[in-house]
Amino acid sequence: MVSYSDMANSNTGNNNGKNGKAIRFIDLFCGIGGFRIAIEQLACELGTPVKCVFSCDIDDACKEAYEANFGEKPAGDITAIRANDIPDHDILLAGFPCQPFSIIGHRKGFEDTRGTLFFEIARILEAKKPKAFVLENVKLLAGHNNGKTLKRIMTALKELGYHADFRIFNALDFGLPQKRERIFIVGFKKACSFDWPKGGIPMTPLKDILEKNVPEQYYASDYIKKNRLKKQKPTKEPTIWHENKAGHISAYPFSCALRAGASYNYLLVNGERRLTMREMLRLQGFPDSYQIVCNYSQTRKQAGNSLPVPVAKAILKNLFIAQRWHSDHVEYELNNYEYQMIDGQMRIFERGERYGRRAKATNGREIQATVSVK
Ligand SMILES: C[S@@+](CC[C@H](N)C(=O)[O-])C[C@H]1O[C@@H](n2cnc3c(N)ncnc32)[C@H](O)[C@@H]1O
Repeated sequence: MVSYSDMANSNTGNNNGKNGKAIRFIDLFCGIGGFRIAIEQLACELGTPVKCVFSCDIDDACKEAYEANFGEKPAGDITAIRANDIPDHDILLAGFPCQPFSIIGHRKGFEDTRGTLFFEIARILEAKKPKAFVLENVKLLAGHNNGKTLKRIMTALKELGYHADFRIFNALDFGLPQKRERIFIVGFKKACSFDWPKGGIPMTPLKDILEKNVPEQYYASDYIKKNRLKKQKPTKEPTIWHENKAGHISAYPFSCALRAGASYNYLLVNGERRLTMREMLRLQGFPDSYQIVCNYSQTRKQAGNSLPVPVAKAILKNLFIAQRWHSDHVEYELNNYEYQMIDGQMRIFERGERYGRRAKATNGREIQATVSVK
C-alpha cells in the first residue's frame, strides 16, 4: 500500500515547491498525526512534495500510532530538545496542548510565555525562523483572561518577526459531522497575501460515518439506555446523543466535539452505543487507510486530542498558495483579496473593504470588523 507519506514525498509530477525540492515541515505535539495527514493529502492534490523532517510527542501510545502510520518514531518531550537539534524547515505545525495559560504573567510577549508549552514553539521559531507556521488550540484560548493570553501570544509572535493572524473555525463548516470549534493561528516571516478559507462545505451525513454491525461490547447497559430514553425521544434518522454537565440530553444529526477525557457515555449513537474507534477517527476526517494500533481508551483519547483534518488542510492550502508553493496548474483566485498591516498584524479583507473598528465579541475578545468602502 502506498501511504500518504510515500505519495507526498515523491518528487514526480509538475511542482514548483522550491524548484521541485520538497517543502520541509516539522510536526510538534504531533499526537497521532492529524496535521501530517492534512499536509500530505494537500501535497498530493497540489503536486507539491512535502517532507517531515522532525516530529515529537511525549505520549508513548501516540508515538506508536504515529510510527505505524508514517514509518517514523517521533522524538519525545519537546522541553528536552535543543532547537539546534531540529533540522531546518519551511513550515512549523503545532497543535499545542491546551494546558492552563494562567502562567502567562504581566510582561509583554516572548519572555512572558516562559513556562508554557507555547514558549517551546516560540523558542524554535526564534532559532529556526521557518517561513511560516500554523498553530491550533481550543477555542477557549481566545477568551482566556479576557483575551489577554491570546494577545500576549500574538505579541510574542510579532516580536519574533512574524506577521500573524488567528481565526476560529468549526469542523461542521468543513464537511465533518462534528461540532468542533478550534482556534488556528497562521504566521509568515514575510507578509504575503493570505486568505482564510471560507468553509461552507456541506456536512457528510452521519450515516456515512457510522459503521454497520457494531459488536455488542459497544452498547450501553440497559440502565443507561432507559435513562437516556426518559430524557430524549428516539429519532428516525441516526443521531448522536450528547449529555452535558447538567445531565441534559440532546440528540443531533452530528457529533458534539470528541473530548479526550469525557465519560464513556458522553456521546452515544442513537442513545444506545458508544462510537467505534473508526467512527471517531472518521469524525476528525482521518481516512480509513489510517491504521488503528492502540486500544479503545487510548484511541478515544487520541481522537479527542487530534484536529479536524479538513480544516487544517483548507488553511494549509491557502498558506501554500500564498507562499506560491503550488503547481502552476492549480488555479486559484487571489485577486479578490488584499491584506493590510494593522498594529503590526496582517489582516485579510475582501477587496472593497477596509479595516473599520474594533468590536467586543460576547466572550470579551476584541475582534476586527470591516466596513465596506464601495
Ligand atoms: C492537542 S494534542 C495534539 C494532537 C495532534 N494535533 C493530532 O493530530 O493528534 C497535544 C499533544 O501534545 C503532546 N504533549 C504534551 N506535552 C508535551 C511535551 N512536553 N512534549 C511533546 N509533546 C507533548 C500530548 O501528548 C498530545 O499528544
